[in-house]
Amino acid sequence: MAQSCIALLFLSVAMLLAMAADATQFKVGGSNGWSVPDPNAMSFNQWAERNRFHIGDSLLFVYPPDKDSVLQVDKDAYDACNTSTFIAKYDDGSTVFTLNRSGAFYFISGVEANCIRNESLIIMVMADRTDSGRPAVPAPAPSPTPPSEAASEPSPPRPPPAPEAASEPPPSNGEATVPAAEPAPAGEEPPPPPPPSGAAASRVVGFVGVVGSVVMGIVL
Ligand SMILES: *[C@@H]1O[C@H](CO)[C@@H](O)[C@H](O)[C@H]1NC(C)=O
Ligand SMILES: *[C@@H]1O[C@H](CO)[C@@H](O)[C@H](O)[C@H]1NC(C)=O
Ligand SMILES: *[C@@H]1O[C@H](CO)[C@@H](O)[C@H](O)[C@H]1NC(C)=O
Repeated sequence: MAQSCIALLFLSVAMLLAMAADATQFKVGGSNGWSVPDPNAMSFNQWAERNRFHIGDSLLFVYPPDKDSVLQVDKDAYDACNTSTFIAKYDDGSTVFTLNRSGAFYFISGVEANCIRNESLIIMVMADRTDSGRPAVPAPAPSPTPPSEAASEPSPPRPPPAPEAASEPPPSNGEATVPAAEPAPAGEEPPPPPPPSGAAASRVVGFVGVVGSVVMGIVL
C-alpha cells in the first residue's frame, strides 16, 4: 500500500513537471495582436478552435495600451459585449494570461465598439494534457482478488502402494499348478522395457500431484 502511494506521488510529480515543461504561450491574433480583426481574416475564435489549450498554457495579448485593453468576463458579458462588468481588466499593452484551470475563458476588448466588431475570444482549456477529445473516463479501481484459502487446497495424492508388490512374484509352493507367466522368448521382438520401479513411479505421481495442487490453488 505504501509503495503504491509512493509510486502515485512520483507519477503526479512527473506529470506536473511534464506540464510545466510543455507549457505553450499563444500570441493572440498573431502579428496583428489584440485588435479588431479584418472581416476577411480568420476570427479570434476560428483561430482558437484550431489550437489545443492545456492547463499551464498562456495567452499573450499585445495592443496599444492607450487605445485598447483586455477584459476577462463571464459568458453573459461576453455575449452582450458588456464592458462594465468584468472578472479582470488588463491595460498594460502586453498581457500574459495563464490558463490555470480547465474549461472556458471569455475575453473581450475593453472598448465596447471593438468588442461588437468581434474583438473577442473564447478559449476552451482541456481537462488534461493527454485528453484527445474524448471525455475523460476514470479508470475503474482494481478489485483485489481474495486470497485463496490454504485449507481448501487439495492435499497431494498419496504415493502408490509399497514397491514390494511390483517386484518378484510370490514364491510358489509346490501345489501351484500354473507356473508364473513368463514372457515367451521371441526372436524378432526386442524385450519389453522394464517397468519403472515403485520408487520412481511414486516420485512421478507425487510431482504430478504437486503441480495439480498448485494449478488448483491458482484457479481457486
Ligand atoms: C452589464 O452587466 C451589468 C451586470 O449584469 C448590468 O447591471 C448592466 O446593465 C449591463 N450593461 C449593459 C450595457 O448591458
Ligand atoms: C487562477 O488564477 C486566478 C487569477 O490569479 C485565480 O483567481 C484563480 O483562483 C486561479 N484558479 C485556480 C484553479 O488556480
Ligand atoms: C463577427 O463574427 C460573426 C461570426 O463570425 C460574423 O457573422 C459577423 O459579421 C462579424 N461581425 C463583424 C462586425 O465583423
